Amino acid sequence: MKTIIEPFKIKSVEPIRMTTRAERALHLAEAGQNLFLIRAEDVLIDLLTDSGTSSMSAEQWAGIMRGDESYAGSRSFFRFEEEVRRITGFKHVIPTHQGRAAEKILFTILHREGAVYLGNTHFDTTRANIEFAGAEAIDLPIPEGTVPSTYHPFKGNIDLGRLEQELAARGSAVRAVIVTVTNNSGGGQPVSLENLHAARDLAHRSGTLFIVDSCRFAENAYFVKRREPGQSERPVLDIAQEIFAGADGTTMSAKKDGLANIGGFLALNDDELARQARNLLILTEGFPTYGGLAGRDLEAIAQGLREVLDESYLLYRLRSVEYLEEKLQRNGVPMIIPAGGHAVYLDAGAFLPHIPPEQFPGQVLAAELYLEGGVRGVEIGSVMFGKRDPKTGAHVGPRMELVRLAIPRRVYTQSHIDYVAEVVLQVFARRAELSGLRMTYEAPFLRHFTARFAAV
Ligand code: F0G
Repeated sequence: MKTIIEPFKIKSVEPIRMTTRAERALHLAEAGQNLFLIRAEDVLIDLLTDSGTSSMSAEQWAGIMRGDESYAGSRSFFRFEEEVRRITGFKHVIPTHQGRAAEKILFTILHREGAVYLGNTHFDTTRANIEFAGAEAIDLPIPEGTVPSTYHPFKGNIDLGRLEQELAARGSAVRAVIVTVTNNSGGGQPVSLENLHAARDLAHRSGTLFIVDSCRFAENAYFVKRREPGQSERPVLDIAQEIFAGADGTTMSAKKDGLANIGGFLALNDDELARQARNLLILTEGFPTYGGLAGRDLEAIAQGLREVLDESYLLYRLRSVEYLEEKLQRNGVPMIIPAGGHAVYLDAGAFLPHIPPEQFPGQVLAAELYLEGGVRGVEIGSVMFGKRDPKTGAHVGPRMELVRLAIPRRVYTQSHIDYVAEVVLQVFARRAELSGLRMTYEAPFLRHFTARFAAV
């Protein structure tokens, strides 16, 4: 059959409150054109993030009831541990309340004066936790990974040549090589097994740890099955296991490919590192058999990790993102190609070439998609990563001005996606009419969450 269907029936629904354009204009004005400051109930299709926004299955909800809330040694922990071990193979499984808590613990225990981390592209919480510990994070994406309009099957790959050079130049200052699958900051793009293994071997040859940031490991595994030579016949679980093979540990946000609304973990092989991690966990998250989560959350994650490797789910998942990409591409909308596993990234710089980076084309586009049809995406450009030069006050922007439309897992149907495409295309048709924004308020850190804007 040519039609790929959602491989589930809907048992419970959450109404969407319809809004008018006039209402949305008012909400936008009240929020200073910042979509983080708009109430979720005033959004029709919420594509702000795929994190913690999945629909849970009937079996996950059943797990919620089965959750064992014992403080120590909970049955739910052992089910969770078994599931994480089955996929990752790591000896020590340490639950945390979400991905960044695992990062915080890892970078605290690995820290040394002058520490450096090398990765394909560190996600912003990863980079922030590395820098907060006093260390440096260096991104080494392949060159194709930073050009939106060029196709490459594994745009998430790390640049092995530069990795080798950096490892040689920095020696023991490098505490770990971290490969993020899929590469969220680079467009949700996959990393090939070949690249992962080569990076792992380079790390190990230099006596450095090799860590996988595995938030979207199942989507990455399915891309490998579809795109990497020789992989098409393998069960996706096998491929997922190979992603972790020979790695020293992983940080994971179960809010993505755990199909859960909260949770994460740190998994490690080294006994001494795991001992230190657990000691810190007790201080900040909780006892090692619950780590900042309820027993019911551990059940939901354990079940989610089973369901996410279902191949009919993954086929539907990647296809629904690709479907949106195709509809937009066919009409010339500029974006990162190919589509990522969890999101379409519109190239706002090319979409609105008449709006300079210092007038925030990504923010303009995101606000306009909300106004047009109540669709909420997120700006990943000069608002999120731009700075003012402290001396001249001039704008210093990132390389790309993007708007990410992240698709929550198992939440929206094909007609929702059709609607999103229609909204984008309507805005695209009148793109020349849009004009820039100026920032009227900015906080000293992570300004994108609270910034306010007005028309230039
Ligand atoms: N690593 C990656 C690659 C991520 O995408 C995220 C979160 C994290 C780590 C941190 O996990 O949120 O559970 O603490 N990404 C979300 C997003 C926030 O919208 O892309 P967390």
